[in-house]
Amino acid sequence: MVQSIGKEFMRKTKYQFMYPSDQNKGVPQPPLESKYDSSKPLIGLIEPNQIDISDLPLRRCIEKRRSIRTYSNDVLNLMELSWLLWCTQGIRNEDLKKLRSSFSDDVEVEEIDKILKTVTLRNVPSAGARHAFETLLLINRVEGIEPGLYRYIATRHRLLEISRDPNLPLKMKKAAYDQSMLAKSAVSFIWVADTYRMTWRYGERGYRYLLLDAGHVCQNLYLSAENINCGVCAIAAFHDDEFNQLLGLDSEEHFVIYLASVGKKR
Ligand SMILES: Cc1cc2nc3c(=O)[nH]c(=O)nc-3n(C[C@H](O)[C@H](O)[C@H](O)COP(=O)(O)O)c2cc1C
Repeated sequence: MVQSIGKEFMRKTKYQFMYPSDQNKGVPQPPLESKYDSSKPLIGLIEPNQIDISDLPLRRCIEKRRSIRTYSNDVLNLMELSWLLWCTQGIRNEDLKKLRSSFSDDVEVEEIDKILKTVTLRNVPSAGARHAFETLLLINRVEGIEPGLYRYIATRHRLLEISRDPNLPLKMKKAAYDQSMLAKSAVSFIWVADTYRMTWRYGERGYRYLLLDAGHVCQNLYLSAENINCGVCAIAAFHDDEFNQLLGLDSEEHFVIYLASVGKKR
C-alpha cells in the first residue's frame, strides 16, 4: 500500500498549484460529451417537460432517504428512468431544449458542442460547469428496455445500447466485492469520469473536483428516487481495475468513479 498518498494528494492539489492548466495555455476545450458511435440507433426517453412524477415535498424526500440494498421485483417504467436520468445528469440549456427535437441521429458530437458553445448546464452543480461524467446504466428491470448495459447520451436525452451480455450483472457484482445490489437492482447507475474534461481547466486539482461532483450526482439520485418509491444505495467499494476492464475503460483518463443501485422499495 502507498503510505500517506492522501496527504500528498491534498498537498499537491492545493489551489495555488492549479495553474497553468491546459486552458490557460490556450489548448482547445475537449468535447462536452465523450465520443460514441453515432451511427447506432438511440432509444428514446420521456422528454423532460413531459415527465409526470408525483410531487413529494423536498422535506419528505430528505427525511425518507436511506441507503436501501434490497428491492422488490417490480420494474421501473420509462418515465421513472427518464426522471432519474434527468435529475442526475439532465441538461437544461435553453438552446439545447429548443434544438433537441430537431436533432437527427447523425448529428456529430462536435456539432452539439457548437450549439452548446462551451458548457452544459445540468440539474446538478459541477465545478466550472465541466460536467466530466458519463452515465452508464446496468438495466435489469425497466419496462420496454431489454436488460443490458446502456449509456445515457445527455445531449440528446436518449440511451445508447452498449452490451446485452447476460452475465454482466454477475460480473459487476463480483467486481464490487460481491455486493448483490448490482445483480438485484432494477437499474444501477455507473458514473464514469472523463478526467480531461475537468483537468483541462483545473489541472491536477481537477481530481478533487471530480470526487466532489460525484457526490452531488448521487445525492440527486437518492432524493429523486424518493418521488418514485425507489431506494438507492451508493457503492464505492469496488475493484477499480476489474470494473474498468469490464467496461473497456483505460483506468487513467476514464474510470468508474462511483456507482449506485436503484430498485422499487419492498
Ligand atoms: C461515498 C460512499 C460510498 C458508499 N459505498 C457503499 C458501498 O460500497 N456499499 C454499501 O452497501 N453502501 C455504501 N454506501 C452507503 C453507506 O453505507 C450509507 O450511506 C451509510 O451507512 C449511512 O446510511 P444511510 O445512507 O441510510 O443514511 C456508501 C455511501 C457513500 C456516501
